[in-house]
Amino acid sequence: MSISVKNQTFTLSTNRTAYQMKVGAYNFLFHTYYGKKIDETDMSYLFSYQDVGFSGNPYDAGKDRTFSIDTLPLEYSSFGIGDFRGDCIQAELADGSSSIDFRYRSHKIYAGKYGLTDLPAMYGEESEWATLEMHLFDIKEEIELILYYGVMEKWDIITRACRLVNHTDNTVKLHRMLSACLDLPSGNYDMVTFYGRHARERNMERARLHHGIQGMESIRGASSHQYNPFVILCEPHADEEKGECYGMSFVYSGNFLAQAEVTQRNTSRLVMGIHPTRFLFTLEKGESFTAPEVILTYSAKGFHRLSSNYHKAVRNNLCRGKYKTARRPVLINNWEGTYFDFTDSLLLQIAEESAKLGIEMFVLDDGWFGKRNDDFSGLGDWYVNESKLKCGLKAFSEKIHDLGMQFGIWFEPEMVSEDSDLFRTHPDYVLNVPGRPGCRGRYQFVLDFSRKEVRDLVYEQMRKILDGARIDYIKWDMNRHLTNVWSAGLPAERQGEVYHRYVLGLYEFLERLHRDYPDLLLEGCCGGGGRFDAGMLYYTPQIWCSDNTDARERLFIQYGTSFGYPVSAVGSHVSASPNHQTGRECSLAARGAVAMAGTFGYELNVNQMTEEEKETVKKQITDYKRFYDLIQDGEYYRLSGPYGNTASGDTEGVCAWEFVSEDRTRALLFAVLTESQGNPVQKVIKLRGLNPESVYTRVDSKEFYTGTALMNGGILLPCAGGYCPAVCMEFTVRKE
Ligand code: GLA
Repeated sequence: MSISVKNQTFTLSTNRTAYQMKVGAYNFLFHTYYGKKIDETDMSYLFSYQDVGFSGNPYDAGKDRTFSIDTLPLEYSSFGIGDFRGDCIQAELADGSSSIDFRYRSHKIYAGKYGLTDLPAMYGEESEWATLEMHLFDIKEEIELILYYGVMEKWDIITRACRLVNHTDNTVKLHRMLSACLDLPSGNYDMVTFYGRHARERNMERARLHHGIQGMESIRGASSHQYNPFVILCEPHADEEKGECYGMSFVYSGNFLAQAEVTQRNTSRLVMGIHPTRFLFTLEKGESFTAPEVILTYSAKGFHRLSSNYHKAVRNNLCRGKYKTARRPVLINNWEGTYFDFTDSLLLQIAEESAKLGIEMFVLDDGWFGKRNDDFSGLGDWYVNESKLKCGLKAFSEKIHDLGMQFGIWFEPEMVSEDSDLFRTHPDYVLNVPGRPGCRGRYQFVLDFSRKEVRDLVYEQMRKILDGARIDYIKWDMNRHLTNVWSAGLPAERQGEVYHRYVLGLYEFLERLHRDYPDLLLEGCCGGGGRFDAGMLYYTPQIWCSDNTDARERLFIQYGTSFGYPVSAVGSHVSASPNHQTGRECSLAARGAVAMAGTFGYELNVNQMTEEEKETVKKQITDYKRFYDLIQDGEYYRLSGPYGNTASGDTEGVCAWEFVSEDRTRALLFAVLTESQGNPVQKVIKLRGLNPESVYTRVDSKEFYTGTALMNGGILLPCAGGYCPAVCMEFTVRKE
């Protein structure tokens, strides 16, 4: 068992890490260690007890002024009882007070992973996981806090979640309940975050922690393009291969807070959870509230190991369904090819040509339903627009299948246009404050998914479409964020529950789809990557990474995304050049290379391609199918980032990444030359993760090199010309 208990010290061990807590004086629960694997030594010997002015002492400590919960590391911090650092929980009791003082009462340890009702969470075999539950109670009222810890040895994962149970006869009002708290003995860290905007998501940013508070948050009702709910704390010298790093990834898709603080004692605290803004849950006797899961990992050896842990754990123990492992079809999506302007015959021409190139699925994007010819109307009316699809959806889907392709379709279930039958019939089904005009986003309103009757109405419409045609895939879009959040389904005093109930409603809907249509492939989307988080990945194993399909820009977006999320989650397509978002030209080789670092597909009108381009597309598809396992299941290495930060040599102007098979017999190197130079200088890239003793053949040239040469000397990249040239080199171990 990976959880040991000795003298009330709990050591949670994984292959390379240990996480430790201790029930200490007066039954407070202290955090004693998180880092490189250690034995069961009680690490609280490092605690420093000092009389720190203005850091008070719990009454139980008597005259001891050296014991303060404001200075000692805690597993979970409660507001109002003497810890003035960023707290995790604030609640109001019946008498109006808000001091809840949780102390340890009992614990449970069992094999397997705890589950969370109505929320996404990591899962796995009983033999893969161990669970620790810590049961804490307030010193006065029967209010229980359960802290859940999941331990997965294989990929150094610790998960956390918690639940508050009101056992009293009175109402408890919960104003804030975060999911995880990590107190570290040093404040000397960088915080790595992923910020952005629509069409430029998850740019990596690294800043030194400073005294006070810094962090990321969303109050948009979705995790957002702007700030991702995934953060890293690392040592200032950390890079891909060295330095300590701690990661926190939130398994949640709504408002969030990820906050780091360097304290008066130069220690740091990292907390993560649902954003407290406009959060107010009322718990009556016997009711409970569950705070969503956070996935933690630690790497003593830099970002690569940290990312690798997340890649494997998310792909294998968070994503679900048939397409968790089944090869996903190479698709063509008609959005950038036609936008709203299509007929069935135009689409079939695209599909026919795509099938000839080896494309395996046709995805019909926005515009096939209601009176949807632009973005002013139609959302909410999920019946086929027969003036565009004259043959009807059933016949259309069959024609696609007759071409030997699968068929996918776009929905935006959470939204409604004012110009729609649904809105005309049920204007009260939107999130909006009665008597106020509200706020449009892309001319549309958000349906109140916190209400079951609203979800049922949309589900029923979707069910008819799914049952009436041959549909293999859904792109689930969400093209605006939440404003004027008010639900007709809840009384005034419970309006603070709507944001969270909206997310729970979304999850319930997705769970229903998952249960009723287990073979459907779902791709999440929110104007590209506006809801790219571990919560959504539990329901949709891939997410459209960005509305920006420019390969050069995607290098930044996908680089940032790769820190916390696997390649299998990254929706990525080859689109036309010049690119529709940026006007930039880019070689087909680079567009292909970048899309292959994801789920791979096309999003253009193939009939507008030259014969030479079509031949290249055919080769890309054949290559991708051959590389599929290596790309999806191999070890992913960032060799040289788009920011000029590099783990190997002088690679300014080169963005390179590599996939290595688990047995290290195959490797695939991709490099995109991002800067055109006159009289270009040579570029050398060092590979990683190979077996130093093995001899590798470079498949295209038949040249061979030892692993140690490729990793320490590197390989020379050809100096190709053109717009953003790209290189793909495959290496296999030479058979003796
Ligand atoms: C969003 C998506 C796009 C496309 C459009 C359709 O912006 O991200 O891929 O589906 O909606 O309106």
